[in-house]
Amino acid sequence: MDLGLRDKVAIVTGGGSNIGRAITLALAEEGAKVAVAEIDREAGERVTTLAREMGAPDALLLPCDVTDREQVEAMVKQVLARWGAVHVLVNNVGWDRLCLFLEDSWEDMEKKVRLNLWSVINCCRAVLPHMIEAGGGAIVNIGSDAGRMGEYREAVYSACKGGVIALTKALAREYGRYNVRVNCVCPGVTIPQTEEEVGSYSMWRGATEVARFAAPEMRERIIRAYPLRRLATPQEVAKAVVFLASDAASFITGQTLSVSGGYTMM
Ligand SMILES: NC(=O)c1ccc[n+]([C@@H]2O[C@H](COP(=O)([O-])OP(=O)(O)OC[C@H]3O[C@@H](n4cnc5c(N)ncnc54)[C@H](O)[C@@H]3O)[C@@H](O)[C@H]2O)c1
Repeated sequence: MDLGLRDKVAIVTGGGSNIGRAITLALAEEGAKVAVAEIDREAGERVTTLAREMGAPDALLLPCDVTDREQVEAMVKQVLARWGAVHVLVNNVGWDRLCLFLEDSWEDMEKKVRLNLWSVINCCRAVLPHMIEAGGGAIVNIGSDAGRMGEYREAVYSACKGGVIALTKALAREYGRYNVRVNCVCPGVTIPQTEEEVGSYSMWRGATEVARFAAPEMRERIIRAYPLRRLATPQEVAKAVVFLASDAASFITGQTLSVSGGYTMM
């Protein structure tokens, strides 16, 4: 099936690590021009080089903190200056640190809101006027099953991801008339496969609570809750994102798709 992504322009936020990296490379394989909006220059450089090798007609690292509105506006301007359009936006940046709500620090709670929710709002605000003017586009937001379920030790993260799902639906309603589709993909636990896939700013880096998911006993425990009895690869999440970003999903908007081996069914 031709997904119609050849020569389309796609922005992937946080494209330097794990899921974002897989999304960037999957879009490159489809022949899209990819802009990686990344705070981690080194990881961003690595993935854009690889994207070109894998078939992207052009790939660009745009160093950017997506929690900063002005930087996001400037990043989108750079994409428009180079390629004249933005057909696809993938809001992938997110961050978590697991702990009970009452034990969370104000600093971390604010960081969670900035990285998981404000980043998505900022990028949608910057890109939507151009998509409307151009006659359409596709936005794929990366949510989480935590946003559908409300996960233990992930209260603020769950709230933000629930917000991303609601934002997805609201924007789909408001801008569908301009042929802008907005969908959300909710990965289950998706552990980076190799060291090379983990950026320096990744929540999987170091001895974090999130990184503990990669420990074999923890992995086993999570797998038991998944009907497919295994965890996703980042590439499996990327496939769902590429589909929703593509013409193959031309009549799909406002939807939330879990890629979590059946962990949630709703
Ligand atoms: N991996 C999982 O198990 C899992 C599960 C459910 C949902 N998710 C969601 O999927 C998305 C990707 O997760 P991941 O595991 O690949 O994360 P990751 O931490 O490995 O990668 C995040 C990327 O975002 C970049 N980044 C961080 N702050 C930034 C900023 N301010 N501006 C620009 N770039 C910034 C980092 O440099 C990194 O490359 C997130 O939204 C996450 O919440 C992940």
